[in-house]
Amino acid sequence: MDVSGKTVLLTGGTNGIGRELAFQLKAKGAEVIVTGRNPDRVAAMREAGFEVLEANLSDASGVDALVTALTGRSIDVLINNAGQLVDHDFRAGSPDPDAADAAIYANLNAPIRLIVALMATLRARPEAAIVNVTSGLAIAPAARTPVYCATKTGLRFYTLALRAQLEGTNIHVIEALPPVVDTQMNEGNDMKKMSAEECARQIVVAIEKNKAEANIGLTKALRVVEGISPSLAKGITLKF
Ligand SMILES: NC(=O)c1ccc[n+]([C@@H]2O[C@H](COP(=O)([O-])OP(=O)(O)OC[C@H]3O[C@@H](n4cnc5c(N)ncnc54)[C@H](OP(=O)(O)O)[C@@H]3O)[C@@H](O)[C@H]2O)c1
Repeated sequence: MDVSGKTVLLTGGTNGIGRELAFQLKAKGAEVIVTGRNPDRVAAMREAGFEVLEANLSDASGVDALVTALTGRSIDVLINNAGQLVDHDFRAGSPDPDAADAAIYANLNAPIRLIVALMATLRARPEAAIVNVTSGLAIAPAARTPVYCATKTGLRFYTLALRAQLEGTNIHVIEALPPVVDTQMNEGNDMKKMSAEECARQIVVAIEKNKAEANIGLTKALRVVEGISPSLAKGITLKF
């Protein structure tokens, strides 16, 4: 897909990978509508010339308010990028079930609700795309983040099935699986990290080339290992 002239709805576009995606897509001539929550980041993106819709995607009312704000708009590309990592480690104390619920909603329910709400406008476009940002941890889980891994695997399987449903239509369904990326999500994590800029670049390439999946950086290696031995892949990721 040539993104020039396309209207993109990008959730979580005020920080990290999403912010990089916003700038790269805009540089290629796309009109990018960004969503975010943090007031300072929202203001900074507006100052940079983006249309920003404030949206808390942790519950249905937040998603529905966003959909209402988009009434009458044509969207060519929906990028479900907003996501949150939630601590959920019984070895470190008792996890907060409300925090888990909010993360499950933001990472899994919100993308599904947005896809349902925007399907009609996406179908009406000559060429459209749905991009779901999952994770390398959708392939094999890390021990300390079971809720996050469950949401990402859930979104991965949703994406695989949706692609089968929409095969032969005008809508490309793309899954982006980032590795560990240098964003706020990984602050204090001393693992080797890819830059958000490079991660976003590879997602943009996947959109432009109508790829089904963007297996980015070390996720590519993890996919190979998982293909040979799923238990070996889990043995690697469960150490984290
Ligand atoms: N970083 C990694 O290593 C990594 C690896 C694999 C996959 N991913 C995935 O890549 C995506 C982007 O992650 P990132 O590292 O760029 O994260 P980030 O820097 O923390 O940025 C997350 C973005 O999502 C928004 N967001 C988070 N929770 C939200 C909620 N409940 N409602 C509305 N907006 C929300 C944030 O908005 P505010 O700032 O306004 O809250 C921000 O714009 C996520 O889906 C993440 O799971 C990241």
